[in-house]
Amino acid sequence: MAKMAAPIVEHGEDVFRKLFRFYKRRNPPPDFSEVVAAELDRNVLSDDAAKRAGLRAVRDWRAYSLQGHPGFIFISNPFLPGSQQHWVKQCLKTYPQKPNVCNLDMHMSPAETENIWEKSIGGFRKKGKQDPKTLLEKLRWVTLGYHYNWDTKTYSPESRSPFPPDLHALSRCLAAVCGFPGFSAEAGILNYYRTDSSLGIHVDESELDHTWPLLSFSFGQTAVFLLGGAKRQDAPTAMFMRSGDVMVMSGPSRLLYHAVPCLVAAPASEPLPSCLGARPTEDAAEDALVRPVSEQDWEVCSRYLLTSRVNMTVRQVLGPGRTFEVATRPGASPHAETRRGYDDDGAEEATSNAKKSRSGSECTLSS
Ligand code: SIN
Repeated sequence: MAKMAAPIVEHGEDVFRKLFRFYKRRNPPPDFSEVVAAELDRNVLSDDAAKRAGLRAVRDWRAYSLQGHPGFIFISNPFLPGSQQHWVKQCLKTYPQKPNVCNLDMHMSPAETENIWEKSIGGFRKKGKQDPKTLLEKLRWVTLGYHYNWDTKTYSPESRSPFPPDLHALSRCLAAVCGFPGFSAEAGILNYYRTDSSLGIHVDESELDHTWPLLSFSFGQTAVFLLGGAKRQDAPTAMFMRSGDVMVMSGPSRLLYHAVPCLVAAPASEPLPSCLGARPTEDAAEDALVRPVSEQDWEVCSRYLLTSRVNMTVRQVLGPGRTFEVATRPGASPHAETRRGYDDDGAEEATSNAKKSRSGSECTLSS
């Protein structure tokens, strides 16, 4: 992440040169505390544990922070070759299955939204431009664990299904390295972007405990991610989210405005990011979290990703030892009254473009 350019000349001395000399100094050695880089706890995840989770050894991760946004951590694709495929397949084939909830459930019967993958792949493999959209192509979101209610912008104990153990374990590893040991994934929102999709400006504040981070994993086509401030008026920073990238919003950055205005067209020379096609370099261990994806399944996934991006966001809803009843008791949560949920900025855009919202009544992911 780039620092803001400093004035070239300050008090007669070139400030660039001043800083250059500061870091070049050997004796005494420079103080590195001002260098922009994310603090990772590199000792909490052994190389073996990282490998089991399909992740590179933590010493090889490239992690960045953003000046002015403490708690925001960007990790450039920490996944081992082949393991992104597992998460893509889970998002397309496994996680949309019942009892998880998806946007199609808002206007289709349970029988119609059963087996989305199986109902889609035939049409998807031999698809011509005139063919009707498959269910997979109509998928916009899936919720896991505590199912986010788009209308009330709340979670509730009545609407909950088991959180996928593999994503729970991956999230635990990532959160621990970022300084949050004990993180427990309780809710997930998976976002499915087609080339013309966007996600409106919003703050993720419906969780009842904001001391836990929000984790976000990106796969497939590149997106532009806008990270703003605590107020809508604060100028946002634009950054690319590429396949495999992980973003963590925590501490003072947990409640910042953010949005995804567009996907970036892939170059014709590389329609799919090469890191996605890579096959595992070693056989998976017995107890590995991620399993190799079959060629048939990957054929479908990779075709889908030519025009799509999949994003998994993972949240802890409750504080340690808290139950829902206590947390939602009036006055028990300082956030209960202030929770505003998603911004519906995209609704205007979606309405004027006759586009569909992902929630039915509230447009966040439009395309
Ligand atoms: C993203 O798609 O990168 C962001 C998702 C979200 O804010 O929910």
